[in-house]
Amino acid sequence: MRNYNVEEEKSRKQKATRNTNKTSKRIMDIMQDISEFFVVFVKILLELLHSLFEKFMTKKLKDISGEIILITGAGHGIGRELALHYTAWGSVVVCVDINEKNNEETLKKAQRLMQNSVYAYTCDVANRDAVLKLAAKVEAEVGRISVLVNNVGIMPTHPLEQHTAEEIRRVFDINVLSHFWTLEAFLPQMKQQGRGHIICISSIAGVVGLTNLVPYCATKYAVRGMMEALHEEIREGPYKDFIKLTVVYPYMTNTGLCKRPKVKFPSMLGLLDPKEVAKHIVEAHRSNVNETTIPGSLLHVNNWCRLLPLRCGLLLKDYIDSGVESDL
Ligand SMILES: NC(=O)c1ccc[n+]([C@@H]2O[C@H](COP(=O)([O-])OP(=O)(O)OC[C@H]3O[C@@H](n4cnc5c(N)ncnc54)[C@H](O)[C@@H]3O)[C@@H](O)[C@H]2O)c1
Ligand SMILES: *[C@@H]1O[C@H](CO)[C@@H](O)[C@H](O)[C@H]1NC(C)=O
Repeated sequence: MRNYNVEEEKSRKQKATRNTNKTSKRIMDIMQDISEFFVVFVKILLELLHSLFEKFMTKKLKDISGEIILITGAGHGIGRELALHYTAWGSVVVCVDINEKNNEETLKKAQRLMQNSVYAYTCDVANRDAVLKLAAKVEAEVGRISVLVNNVGIMPTHPLEQHTAEEIRRVFDINVLSHFWTLEAFLPQMKQQGRGHIICISSIAGVVGLTNLVPYCATKYAVRGMMEALHEEIREGPYKDFIKLTVVYPYMTNTGLCKRPKVKFPSMLGLLDPKEVAKHIVEAHRSNVNETTIPGSLLHVNNWCRLLPLRCGLLLKDYIDSGVESDL
């Protein structure tokens, strides 16, 4: 009986020390977590100061002459203006479009600016096989590309119920899946060169949801998520200092894509000129900006509004009251 009590006492003591050890280990862990958080917090404050400081510095823009830049959807609108801007900056430009005639037109206009540094290829970028074939052809005929501008996009504009299944599949094929096929084709070329820049044209419809654009908004948000995730993957890998990403969210632009735009403040938030949009994109590219709206202020307005209760954002949306009417 006595022995038994001694044994019990011993095991109780052992248990108690174990518990104390456990508790002290937990306290140590928590202390470590807190100190690590403190370090992150100080780093965040320093980054904030750094960004403020950068605002007042003149931006360093990188040289893009000599880059081989492939632009999808270069036959019309923003893509065409981008092709002309990049040509003027002395880059080698590879224009890709499904519409051969328009693409040839872009080629001619660009060649008038600069001889021999522009190429045109006809390709449906929603078709994976076609994109992989295109990549092999461009590599053989022009060289490895160092900048990819994923610009193609279509915009069916009507209430959700009036979208056909075919239309919904097509808008995802062109606005989302094409990005995966071009990345599959051209990202390895960038990795081989140890440098590159991927630029994707999303839309203000990838920042706020808009009436008549349910599938379109879904595709533009998808591009945003894809780019944010890819940014993380590259940031954690060996190419973090060598492959840059830029995602662009332009407001409505006068290219004919928006068939029935609805604008309340034409002087402040009227349709943008595609030339201005292209200029802004090239500048974002040259300054390695990770994401930008066009005009630039909209991203900040949106980010601040997202901090407020949903209803406050809706009030502002109703006040701005701009978007698109059904094209049916
Ligand atoms: N115009 C706007 O208001 C606006 C606003 C924000 C974002 N955007 C986005 O900017 C991008 C360019 O828009 P835009 O207004 O210049 O369009 P656009 O219609 O003027 O030009 C798009 C070009 O892409 C080509 N294209 C379409 N499908 C293709 C495919 N499967 N393969 C290859 N080429 C294809 C077309 O032939 C056309 O030449 C799109 O992604 C669009 O969603 C446009
Ligand atoms: C973009 O993101 C990278 C991290 O991958 C960062 O180093 C860089 O400063 C960012 N660019 C700008 C202009 O904020």
